[in-house]
Amino acid sequence: MLSKKLAFVQEFLKHPLEVGSVIPSSRFLENKIIKAAEVASAKTIVELGPGTGNTTRAILKAMPKTAKLLAIEINPQLHELLQKIDDDRLIAHLGNVEGLEKILAQYKLDAPDTIISGIPFSTMSQEAATKIVNTIAAVLAPNGNFVAYQFSPKIAALCDPIFGKARSKIEIFNIPPACVFRWDKNKSTSLQ
Ligand SMILES: C[S@@+](CC[C@H](N)C(=O)[O-])C[C@H]1O[C@@H](n2cnc3c(N)ncnc32)[C@H](O)[C@@H]1O
Repeated sequence: MLSKKLAFVQEFLKHPLEVGSVIPSSRFLENKIIKAAEVASAKTIVELGPGTGNTTRAILKAMPKTAKLLAIEINPQLHELLQKIDDDRLIAHLGNVEGLEKILAQYKLDAPDTIISGIPFSTMSQEAATKIVNTIAAVLAPNGNFVAYQFSPKIAALCDPIFGKARSKIEIFNIPPACVFRWDKNKSTSLQ
């Protein structure tokens, strides 16, 4: 547990803009993410930026026994920690989420029911962030949702024009407090 926290801090110090947070998510934030993404009824789940795998474990705990979780992490040290999770439903992929469409095809996965993101969109170039959000919108299943937990509200300006207005909830029991945003590909569902 301590070694995971230390690894996270070390990687934050090396790549602050990419890692985006000095402390992994709290379990309160994890619970909000799981609920917002409706993980319990999803068949194919994608996690962008799993870090040390706290959110990944929470997703695995909540998701159906037959579901699949693809977790894409760009940092080799954090990816190595993720690979230690012993669960056949998890595919831990080392790479950039910019390649999401190809990565899904590589593992022959169905269109995701939910894509959950912890990557720091606010520190990316506008071009890279827009490309990623457009890819997310393209690959989601018709009734799929996109859930992002962020410290900055900037993501709404990026995603609202593509998906329509987000629904969001703040989790104060996290350091720092974070906001969970949800967008629906088909806007007929509501945030739980
Ligand atoms: C805020 S941290 C994730 C926190 C983690 N899920 C938790 O439980 O606290 C963001 C993660 O996104 C990863 N990341 C940032 N940009 C990425 C990219 N373009 N592709 C894949 N992973 C990326 C970082 O290496 C980092 O592990």
